[in-house]
Amino acid sequence: MTPLVGFLCFLLLTVALLGGVVLTGRAKRRRVHVPLVAATLVSLGTTIFFAERVGRLFDLDSAGVITPIHLALAKLTTFAYLLPLVTGIWTTRRPAMFRWHRRFAYAVVALTLATAATGTWMLLGARRMPALGVEAGAQVHAPRAQ
Ligand code: HEM
Repeated sequence: MTPLVGFLCFLLLTVALLGGVVLTGRAKRRRVHVPLVAATLVSLGTTIFFAERVGRLFDLDSAGVITPIHLALAKLTTFAYLLPLVTGIWTTRRPAMFRWHRRFAYAVVALTLATAATGTWMLLGARRMPALGVEAGAQVHAPRAQ
């Protein structure tokens, strides 16, 4: 699996799982909600793994101001997942915390979508790095002048 294919597959899976988390939360189906949260976090981690590899294939600075914006947003979003996690566990003990869980949950969904959108914008604006393997290979295998 190439980094780009892996990244796109896991990004879509993460967004789909997050949709499932929202639906099961709204339907009060806790037994499905919590395992879906765990699956979303594993999928998010795998997306970040592939995203770092995709980043090496592009000259991200060439995309301009969207790059620092996206990178800052991506870090903020990753840490923001802690808020619905903590308040979700808290809600199971103190139902009054649900207000906060709901707010943080929708904030994290919005941040995730914004991160995906700015990431796509960044990659579309970035130059692809030259394929080093091809150039090096061409030199190694070129017939020698006699
Ligand atoms: C990324 C993490 C999470 C997200 C995005 C999320 C999202 C949501 C959403 C959207 C709701 C429904 C809000 C509404 O009614 O409008 C909800 C409800 C709920 N969530 Fe989460 N959640 C997350 C993690 C957790 C965790 C880790 C737990 C507990 C271990 C948890 C426990 C609950 C509970 C107890 C409810 C209320 C369900 C009920 O009323 O029975 N959530 N969550």
